[in-house]
Amino acid sequence: MRATATAGSNIALVKYWGVVDKALRLPANGSISLTLDAATTTTAVHFDPALHADAFILDGRETSGEILARVSAHLDRMRALAGTDIFANVESSNTFPTSAGIASSASGFAALTAAGAAALGLNLSRRELSALARLGSGSACRSMIGGWAEWLPGTRHEDSYAVQIAPPEHWDVRDLVAVVSQERKAISSAQGHTLARSSPLFAGRLRQVESTLPVVRKAILARDFHVLGALAEADALSMHSIMLTSRPPLVYWRPATLELIHAVQTWRAEGAPCYFTIDAGPNVHVLALPETAEEIQTRLKAMSCVSRVIACGPGPCPVVRPGAPA
Ligand code: PMV
Repeated sequence: MRATATAGSNIALVKYWGVVDKALRLPANGSISLTLDAATTTTAVHFDPALHADAFILDGRETSGEILARVSAHLDRMRALAGTDIFANVESSNTFPTSAGIASSASGFAALTAAGAAALGLNLSRRELSALARLGSGSACRSMIGGWAEWLPGTRHEDSYAVQIAPPEHWDVRDLVAVVSQERKAISSAQGHTLARSSPLFAGRLRQVESTLPVVRKAILARDFHVLGALAEADALSMHSIMLTSRPPLVYWRPATLELIHAVQTWRAEGAPCYFTIDAGPNVHVLALPETAEEIQTRLKAMSCVSRVIACGPGPCPVVRPGAPA
């Protein structure tokens, strides 16, 4: 009744922004991401008949309210599959600061799904685990997959899950996360997904994503950094155009975000291969190749607006261990 799992966050190169079914978290479009090795969540789950309620401890702190309710709702899904009503104690820790612009909900719900399913002895396929993780947080379905992953949007719960495009060792691309702010975002991505459709540009974005997905898939398989980087950058700007034109508008950028965008474009014009992508927050992810990653990291750290850089590479699918954490 106990298991521990470690899962990596992921950075989307073609983003998920907008839902068609809020409760089932069925996305308006497919998305592609890289699972990360150095930004992970480790979660221990213990289903204990002596408990009278679920408990969730995050980075050493007991949680309550909305956060606990979201974890409890996910445990309910797994309890329903196992036919049990035993409460659980969940202890989770991140190797990166929560709200650092790295999707802690992706690694968090992937780790919770992997550990919870193992603790209950659920015999689920990778596809079923990915779909289940999606119900906790959409992007978590991609963190159930190692390396380069694609979320197939589907139209029902069963057919909305992520698959692997290529394993982590296929291609070493680095994601240098330039942290400029650790403030919690005012509008969650869950709220943003329902606002997306209010943008007059949304239909155009969906058409654009449709034509981008196969090209990005091919660029990954061919290890074509320039095609991948250019499309990832364009897609991030396209997603932020939706955010900026939603009603009400979502402006996640800060002055430092723009400073980093310009820096990356300048370095690239000067010959350093690097591209940016930005999620639902002000921090900037800089994509780089291993040969030049260190040099780019040094340049990022030298910028006064950058408080820290988290350097990530391709990571594996969740690793599960029976029992309590070591
Ligand atoms: O899974 P959510 O609801 O946190 O949404 C993730 C949204 C983005 O990070 C902005 C894009 C993505 O595809 O990861």
